[in-house]
Amino acid sequence: MAFGLKKDITWDKSRLPRHVAIIMDGNGRWAHRRALPRIAGHRAGAEALRKICRYAGRIGIEYITAYAFSTENWKRADDEVSGLMALLLSYLQNAEKELGGDEARIRVIGDRSRFADELQREMARVERVTADNKKLNVTLALGYGGRREIIDAIKKIAADAASGRISIDDIDEGTLDSCLYTNFMPDPDLVIRTSGEMRLSNFLLWQNAYSELYFCDTLWPDFNEKAFDLALRAYENRNRRFGGR
Ligand code: FPP
Repeated sequence: MAFGLKKDITWDKSRLPRHVAIIMDGNGRWAHRRALPRIAGHRAGAEALRKICRYAGRIGIEYITAYAFSTENWKRADDEVSGLMALLLSYLQNAEKELGGDEARIRVIGDRSRFADELQREMARVERVTADNKKLNVTLALGYGGRREIIDAIKKIAADAASGRISIDDIDEGTLDSCLYTNFMPDPDLVIRTSGEMRLSNFLLWQNAYSELYFCDTLWPDFNEKAFDLALRAYENRNRRFGGR
């Protein structure tokens, strides 16, 4: 270890969340406080995500799911949306090197159809080239909305029931789970939302039924390894009962 570099905390794997979902909020306010354009906040936010993914992989977290662009974000000002799209494109172009190192499998969940063809191609490419990576699963929620996801799942189930592929009596939680965009991942153990807001904002609504929620005032671009450690410590001290006693 080079002189001056701090060593990572060694976590008890059994007390560490397997899956951390993150609502990265506060980029705009971070930029405003520095008299910078909003896109500078998003750029700093993208860098914070890169750092957190690499750290999460090092300490043994298996899944990070980040809310990077919601269905509602399409309503933002044109210049902010186009700035975010340009940022996303360059981010994806480097994602296999930058986001969690060469051991991260990267996926995208959400409605891709509104994204430019070039971006859709890049999403598919990153998923393809990282498909064999096993250590960390990084999922970017892009064009994502939880209610829309549930409606899509219901439509699939209804079509299967109408065609006789499944019987209505056999529909259970597993049926819905398997039709969600997230069918490859366990439910989040911990949800982090930065910047003092205390909402889920349509993020993984079904999947977060029993997740532990952690809110902090830090603006997302300032969220670093130390801030993540605080969230993990808080999680370690929670007593998860999943509705039981
Ligand atoms: C909220 O900040 C954040 C977003 C709109 C999405 C998160 C985007 C990033 C972290 C950057 C882009 C990500 C990638 C993967 C390239 P806000 O603008 O709502 O902040 P505010 O509430 O302070 O205005």
